[in-house]
Amino acid sequence: MANTLKSLVCDDSRYQKSFQMFRERSSENECMREFIHNVLRHVLSSVGNGKSHLNVIGLGSGSGEIDLEMLSTLRMKHPGVTVDNEVVEPSSQQLHNYKVLVSKNRDLDHVKFTWNKMTALEFEEHWKEKKTTTKADFIHMIQMLYYVKDPEATIDFFQSLLDNNGKLLIILVSGESGWGKLWNTYRHLYCNNEVSQFVTTGDIKRLLDSKGVSYQSYELPSQMDITECFTEGDEQGELLLDFLTEVLDFSKTAPPELKEGVLNLLRHPDCSTESDGKVVFNNNLEAIVIDQK
Ligand SMILES: C[S@@+](CC[C@H](N)C(=O)[O-])C[C@H]1O[C@@H](n2cnc3c(N)ncnc32)[C@H](O)[C@@H]1O
Repeated sequence: MANTLKSLVCDDSRYQKSFQMFRERSSENECMREFIHNVLRHVLSSVGNGKSHLNVIGLGSGSGEIDLEMLSTLRMKHPGVTVDNEVVEPSSQQLHNYKVLVSKNRDLDHVKFTWNKMTALEFEEHWKEKKTTTKADFIHMIQMLYYVKDPEATIDFFQSLLDNNGKLLIILVSGESGWGKLWNTYRHLYCNNEVSQFVTTGDIKRLLDSKGVSYQSYELPSQMDITECFTEGDEQGELLLDFLTEVLDFSKTAPPELKEGVLNLLRHPDCSTESDGKVVFNNNLEAIVIDQK
């Protein structure tokens, strides 16, 4: 039954709308900005070892708001450097939005953007084919590892590209968030797409620990108002539900018992708190920073 459900990533236009709705209803952007300004700026201060040119790779950059925030922090920490920024993003719409954002920003003369309309795996294959020897000072994967087939191999490859003092930043939902609880309970029921990984930082930390890879991690407290998900037929609630379940048109296509189970769990205290008629989902994220091998 559950195998008839389609993954949200199969429909880029619906995916982007759901993601937009998620961003509007959650404090994700604010919590990332806070992390960039209060924590990442210290992490980035040591990259580059005094070089006058830095190489950055952004994987799954989306429309670039967070990337530009990080580039601006990098510049504050390393005034006068030039930057090569490889943008890796498979969605043409998102890549277009990113380019528009760059065209409106006057403080990016020091950055050369290379646009790669491709997945992380295609970029990796491309890199190997070209036998590129360039090393990177800063690589980031923000809310992206869910969409690769093999997160371990992806981390391994990109870590191998780091230069001395280089940093690899991964941000995903925390294993302790509502997402972690939801996926632990339901991933086996509706996950039938080999691309979408219901992966949390808990999974990544276990993986790194088992391989003896050292890292630093930082909790990013965040929440999301999911009240609309509980109003039958509410368009915005349906977009949010698609994003939460990673299922295309979840409300219309999920078997009733699965839908009921997911809705019940979403408002359960394990996932959310309720007050003043609002259901607020625990959207805590976690950042993991890995050094050169
Ligand atoms: C949740 S969004 C995050 C966007 C951005 N990093 C941010 O935090 O605002 C995930 C992004 O990953 C992209 N993506 C999906 N599959 C990918 C893959 N296999 N490799 C790289 N990026 C991918 C999507 O198109 C989307 O823009």
